[in-house]
Amino acid sequence: MAEKNVREVLQVMTDAEKEAAQLMLSAGKVLAERKSGRRDVVTEYDRKVQELLMKRLSEALPEARFFCEENMQRDDLHGEHLFIIDPIDGTMNFVHGFNHSCISIAYRQNGVLTAAAVYNPYVDEMFTAVKGEGAFLNGKAIHVQNESLSESVVCCGTSPYDVSLTDRSFEMIKKAFLAGLDIRRQGSAELDLCSVAAGRAGLYFELQVSLWDYAAGMLIVNEAGGICLDIDGTELPFDGSKPGILAGGKQAVSDFLKL
Ligand code: IPD
Ligand code: CA
Ligand code: CA
Repeated sequence: MAEKNVREVLQVMTDAEKEAAQLMLSAGKVLAERKSGRRDVVTEYDRKVQELLMKRLSEALPEARFFCEENMQRDDLHGEHLFIIDPIDGTMNFVHGFNHSCISIAYRQNGVLTAAAVYNPYVDEMFTAVKGEGAFLNGKAIHVQNESLSESVVCCGTSPYDVSLTDRSFEMIKKAFLAGLDIRRQGSAELDLCSVAAGRAGLYFELQVSLWDYAAGMLIVNEAGGICLDIDGTELPFDGSKPGILAGGKQAVSDFLKL
C-alpha cells in the first residue's frame, strides 16, 4: 500500500479496530497477569488484539514499523510509516467489567502525526482524525468546548504505575476539583482525550503517561481545536519517555496552569 493516501490508511486502521473489538466483546471472565506491579496488568486479550492489529496493518503497509505497548514491539520512532498502538487502553476497566476501554492506533508518517483512530466498542464510538482535516466521532465533526476551567468537567488520571506521584497527583486533582465543576476518573487516557475533543470534558490531565496512551488522542484533540501539552505547559515529547499530560481548550488549559 506504499502509494495509498492517508484516508486509505485510516480506513485500514478503523477496520482493524472494529475487527479486533470483537475479541474484546467476546471476553468472559478475564485473567489478569502482572507486569510491573499489581496495578499494571495485561491479559491474553491485550496480546491478541495487538497481534491482529499488527497483522492487518502490515498486510496493508508491509514496510510499516510499530511502537506498541505489549510484546515489546518498539521500533525506532522515526520510520517513514509508524503505527503507535495501545491494544486495550483501560485494561483495569476491562478486567473488572467496567465496559469503558478502547483500542487506539496513531499513524505517524515521516515524523508527523498524521492519522488517529480510537474505538470504544462498548458504545460503538469511533473517534478519528487526519492532520489538517478535523476530528470526528462516528463520522460527525467534533469540537472542544472553549469554557473556562470554572465551567469545565475535568478528567484526570492517577498515574497508577508510579506511586511516587500519588501525593502530587491527588493535590492537583483536589485543586482542579475546587477550580472546576467536578472530576472524572474514567480509567482510559485515550478516552479522556476523546472526551475533551468531543466537548464533554473541558480538561484532562495526568502526571505520567506513555506514548501509546496519548499519541492518537493528542491528534484528535488538536484537530478538534484544542491543545495537548506536557503537564508543565511545554510541548509533549515524542521520544518514548513518560511525560505528564494536559489537554483542553485554550482557556481551561491556561486556567489550570495558574493553579
Ligand atoms: C492506562 C489508562 C489509565 C491511565 C494510565 C494508563 P492501560 O493505560 O489509560 O487511565 O491512568 O496512566 O497507563 O495500562 O490501561 O493501557
Ligand atoms: Ca494505555
Ligand atoms: Ca494498554
